[in-house]
Amino acid sequence: MKLFDAFNIGSTALSSRVVMAPLTRRRSTRENVPVAHMADYYGQRAGAGLIIAEGASPSPNGVGYCNMPGLFNNEQLEAWKPCTKAVHENGGKIFLQVMHTGRVGHQNNLNKNAQVLAPSAIKQAGEVTTYDFEKQDYSLPKAMTLDDVRNTINEFTSCSKMALEAGFDGVEIHSAHGYLPNQFLNESANVRQDEYGGSRSNRMRFLLEVIDESITAIGSDKIGLRISPHSYADVNEKPEEVNELYLELVKELDLRNLAYLHLSHMGEATPIKFSLWKELRKVYSGNIILCGDFTKETANEALENGEADMIAFGRDFIANPDLVTRFKNNWPLEERDRTYWYTLGEKGYSDYKNFELKEK
Ligand code: PHB
Repeated sequence: MKLFDAFNIGSTALSSRVVMAPLTRRRSTRENVPVAHMADYYGQRAGAGLIIAEGASPSPNGVGYCNMPGLFNNEQLEAWKPCTKAVHENGGKIFLQVMHTGRVGHQNNLNKNAQVLAPSAIKQAGEVTTYDFEKQDYSLPKAMTLDDVRNTINEFTSCSKMALEAGFDGVEIHSAHGYLPNQFLNESANVRQDEYGGSRSNRMRFLLEVIDESITAIGSDKIGLRISPHSYADVNEKPEEVNELYLELVKELDLRNLAYLHLSHMGEATPIKFSLWKELRKVYSGNIILCGDFTKETANEALENGEADMIAFGRDFIANPDLVTRFKNNWPLEERDRTYWYTLGEKGYSDYKNFELKEK
C-alpha cells in the first residue's frame, strides 16, 4: 500500500505517509506545562510516519482550554524535551501544532495577567469548560490593537524557534477550526476596519505575516499549516466567499514552499468541503495532508488517486498506539471510547497496549 511508503517533507524523512493528527488531550498542568506521561504517550506512537503533537499555545493569552500545554516559557520548553526525545529514540518524527485559541476560551482558564483576544470583540457562540466552574459561555474577547497584533505575531515566531530548541522537527500553524488565525480569516469574527480586516487580502494578512516571520526564523521546510474550509467555524460565512478566500490563500501559500498543507474537516462530511479540497489540490503544488475519518482503505484510495500525499488519523491513534503496525498486519483496532479523552492522568492515555502485548 502506498500509505506505507517512506516519504520526505522538506528535510524530514518519514517512515510512512501515515500522520498522527494533533489531538487535544488536556493533560498538562494548570501552568500549561507538559507532564512526564506525555512523553510516554508520544513515544508509544512513534510508529506514525509523522506525529503532529497537540496544539500548544504560543502565548499566555492563547490557552483558552483547561490543561492545554503551552510553549511560551522556559519551563514549558524543558518539559517538551522528553516528548521529542522519546519519539526520536523510537525512530519517529514530531512537529508541534502551534495553537492560539483567541476568542475560543475563557478568562478563568488564563492566568490573571492574560486576556482573551480576538480580531474583533465578537463572542464565540457556545460554552467551554473552565477550571473553577463547569460549562461557561465563552468570554467576550478584547479586540486586538495593532500592538496586540504585532505582539501575537512575535509570539508565534518565538514559539516556532522554541519548538526547534525543544527538539521538534517542525511546527504546524493552526489556522483551522475557529482558532485565532481562522478568526482573522472569517468575516463573521473579523469586522476590523484596519489592514487586518475587510478585504480578503486584509483578512489573510495576519496568517501570512505569522507564516512569513516563522519562515524567516526557522525555514519554510519546517512549517506546516492546517486549515479547515467549510468546517464548523465557517458555518456563518458565505460559502462562495469561503471558496474564493481559500483559493486565494492557497495560491499565496504555494509561493512559500512549506513542509505541507493540512486540510481537515471537522463535523459533517458535506460535499462542498471535498469539492474544495480537490480545487485546492489543483492550485497547490506542495505536499497535502488530508484528515477526517479516513480508514486504511479510503486513505490508500485517496493516495492512489493523487488527492493527497499523506493521510492523518486522529481518534484511532488514541487507543491504538501501534496503529501503523495494526494496519500493516490487518489486526483489529480498539473501539473508540471517549471516557478518558479529556481527563487528567495516565488512564485512557498512556496505558493503551500494542496489539502484540495485549493478550499477555
Ligand atoms: C478541541 O479541543 O475541541 C479542539 C482542539 C483543536 C482542534 C479542534 C478541536 O483543532
